[in-house]
Amino acid sequence: MILYLFGDLMEFSKPRGTRDFLFEEMRERKKVENILRKVFENYGYGEIKTPLFEELSLFTTKSGEQIVEQLYNFKDKSGRELTLRPELTAPIARVYLNELQKTAKPLKLYYFGSCFRYERPQKGRFRQFWQLGCELIGAKSPEGEAEIIAMAEESLNRLGLNEAEIHINHLGIIRELFKEFGINKDIQEKIMILIDKGNKELLVESLNNKEKFDLDKDLIDILIKILNLIGGDEVLHEAHQLIGNYLGVSNELSNFTKFIARLKSFNVKNYTINCSVARGLDYYTGIVFEIYIPSLGAQKQVAGGGSYNLIELFGGEGIESTGFAFGFDRLMNAYQTLNSANSKSNSRSNPGLNNEGNEESVVDIYVAAICDDARSKSFEIAQNLRANDYSVEVDLSRRKFKKLMNAANKLNVKFMIILGEDELLSAKVTIKNMGTGNQELVKIEDLNSYFKDL
Ligand code: HAM
Repeated sequence: MILYLFGDLMEFSKPRGTRDFLFEEMRERKKVENILRKVFENYGYGEIKTPLFEELSLFTTKSGEQIVEQLYNFKDKSGRELTLRPELTAPIARVYLNELQKTAKPLKLYYFGSCFRYERPQKGRFRQFWQLGCELIGAKSPEGEAEIIAMAEESLNRLGLNEAEIHINHLGIIRELFKEFGINKDIQEKIMILIDKGNKELLVESLNNKEKFDLDKDLIDILIKILNLIGGDEVLHEAHQLIGNYLGVSNELSNFTKFIARLKSFNVKNYTINCSVARGLDYYTGIVFEIYIPSLGAQKQVAGGGSYNLIELFGGEGIESTGFAFGFDRLMNAYQTLNSANSKSNSRSNPGLNNEGNEESVVDIYVAAICDDARSKSFEIAQNLRANDYSVEVDLSRRKFKKLMNAANKLNVKFMIILGEDELLSAKVTIKNMGTGNQELVKIEDLNSYFKDL
């Protein structure tokens, strides 16, 4: 933005990794937001809002090294250590401990809000971005986990994002394997971060690095093999053959199998079992999943989630929970690409029309006074219609008739109300239907009923 202040040129640009959303984009974002809200509410989730900033320790305690590196933290004027929130699961665990412990469980909460991470911006990766997510508190069961994934799948279907892939894993398996080989928590987390990065070469090199991890050769071989297990239900069988002889691992594999059976009862069809899904946050314990839209490229992950017991980690009761969050901005990228492809093919047959076949307008009625005496009446009419819930624009620039017509056309309104001297005298207005071009005289007092079916 360029501002001239007292003759000097001042240039302001928006902070790195942030965006301005203008009218058309906001309209689309709202539309997608409303579709997703409806799905979440259909599954019984209620919305909550938490502050944009929290105490720094809320995230440095249990969320893991990766997220801590990306925090936008600061001291306030009283020296308190605070941070902009990088995600909403830890804030919701805090809200639960502060306010909701006595509420009947399971509790179903959803949220939509911005998050902040200090990372290198690129397409689909921002410093301020939005998450639309949910937490199911106190219902850790295969059915609770399955219902969450069913809701994620339904959300994608409602948006028409058929290309999306839901990749699911059970972290209990790898954690039990670590236990079998006596790997301490610190090394476990380091290995999980490496797995989460998804760079196979770096992973193999690091696993074999004696100074870094000093791992048993058998463990390295098993890890490399299981991380390559990706596919349909047969993967469970392959995993059993590979590591089913370790008792703890075998128990977790049967938990995973029960969960997959539940997914089928919820009619979830689109899923891939992927033993390399590790998640970048430390608090997950059981089922984890990530949703990818491959055409988005490097930032293809549009959602992530799983089961966790953050409430217990924060000192509360052992209440297991499951949740996930859509990266709203990445979903929007996919949705817009899909829709622009659709509207291109539509516009070949219907030039100028959107994919529903009609032009969208925000304002329905334009009120235009064509003489100064009628101006005050035009405002009165506009206010009256607005009070009755019509979207109305009224001329504020004292335009001449031709410019009024141009303004109404530009707004793509459905009707124009025209008032001149004659209309004032007869207490009637001319209504022009902008679609058909027809005009008629209507009494001012009948306007609301005239537009009733708009
Ligand atoms: P997450 O995977 O870190 O999980 O973030 C969720 C989603 O937010 C990601 O899948 C991605 O689509 C989006 N996202 C993350 N960082 C950025 C960024 N810099 N720019 C744009 N989009 C981004 C969580 O945050 C967990 N709290 C999810 C959860 C809820 N787990 C349990 N409950």
